[in-house]
Amino acid sequence: MSESVHTVTTLPTERRSGLPFDPPAELLDARRHGPISRCTHPGGKPGWLITGYDLVRSVLADSRFSSRKELMNVVDFELPPAPPGEFLLMDEPQHGRYRKPLVGKFTVRRMRLLTERIEQITVDCLDAMEKAGPPTDLVTAFAKPIPTIVICELLGVPYQDRGSFQEQIDTFMGGATSDEELIAAYTATQEYLAELVAAKRANPTDDVLSELTDSDLTDEELRGISLILLAAGFDTTANMLSLGTFALLQNPAQLAALRADPSLTDRAVEELLRYLSVAKTFMRTALEDVELGGQTIKAGTTVVLSYNTANRDPERFADPHVLDLRRQDAGGHLAFSHGIHQCLGQQLARVEMRVAFRALIDRFPTLRLAVPAEEVGLRPETADIYGVKSLPVTWDKEES
Ligand code: HEM
Repeated sequence: MSESVHTVTTLPTERRSGLPFDPPAELLDARRHGPISRCTHPGGKPGWLITGYDLVRSVLADSRFSSRKELMNVVDFELPPAPPGEFLLMDEPQHGRYRKPLVGKFTVRRMRLLTERIEQITVDCLDAMEKAGPPTDLVTAFAKPIPTIVICELLGVPYQDRGSFQEQIDTFMGGATSDEELIAAYTATQEYLAELVAAKRANPTDDVLSELTDSDLTDEELRGISLILLAAGFDTTANMLSLGTFALLQNPAQLAALRADPSLTDRAVEELLRYLSVAKTFMRTALEDVELGGQTIKAGTTVVLSYNTANRDPERFADPHVLDLRRQDAGGHLAFSHGIHQCLGQQLARVEMRVAFRALIDRFPTLRLAVPAEEVGLRPETADIYGVKSLPVTWDKEES
């Protein structure tokens, strides 16, 4: 084992002020020392931090690394296994049992069919924004409602019930200030979804959740699946839309290029995914001793995979810290992960972002921040998903 391995004292580390789009400086520094470092997990346990693109990708494709929640060795008490259906934190064969019935419901073709509806939802949000007039908070007027309405319609969750789950999901995905608050928010979402599953069983409607009731999955499993879909389905995309708009507004030349050339939209979305990596880190635990980047990861040790530094790896991406919507190499980014847990909703997210970014910049040619950039409130690094808390924007009324 190499003696000179770099050590990051405790995770997570904070971003440098004034650089809201860059990964925390300590993680970038770790990458400069090499693709793998020692670290201490927030709960005090020793682990490894992987910051290099190739190494992150190889761990994601390696079945000797587990996603199981109960194996995560990060705190000094035993974590319970993921509840039935919450397959993000499971390995095969359990993971596949839940993921397989869903794959056909999230294909490129199925998602393209949804495009028209997503366009309509976007137009409705923009109309409401325009009618209310500037200034507005882009998060509440635009970034949150679009993916929330879409995932609600797809799953069959009544949008008018969002008061029962949206805030709770926000809380347990990043806004909780204590463990008690996190558990309460999570339990409330579970209870809401348990009732919804029972209602779909009794009266199936035309949606994914109702379709799933026609299978051998139990109510408890369906509750878990719908929780994963709902939680993964709006917070990620909402933060990409708001943080992505912030990044475009801070890079006027890139924004101008995108405005001028609609054919750049698809590539721009991939580049924003790479550059921002809102789903910034995930963990895996070694099931046996594994040699990795010249180090031995002992069985039972948990590694942190830093998707955001992997996506800024100079050995993989030219000028990685530059937002370049025309770049040719953004496509291989790890913003949707890789391997068996690669994002199930990525085609949906892509359609949403392509439609929403395009429509927003076309509708408001003079869109700009309504506060100085340093006053935009950012989520802390402890949040699962990175993003802005709110994004005050304005525009010239006569031009809208
Ligand atoms: C998994 C990112 C949107 C559903 C993942 C993972 C990432 C990710 C990084 C893998 C985690 C790991 O490696 O363990 C994103 C980003 C999104 C997005 C950046 C938006 C820009 C969505 C949407 C859905 C969705 C719209 C809607 C259904 C899922 C599900 C999984 C997942 C179900 C678990 C897959 C599995 O464990 O097999 N996502 N996601 N995601 N995502 Fe997304």
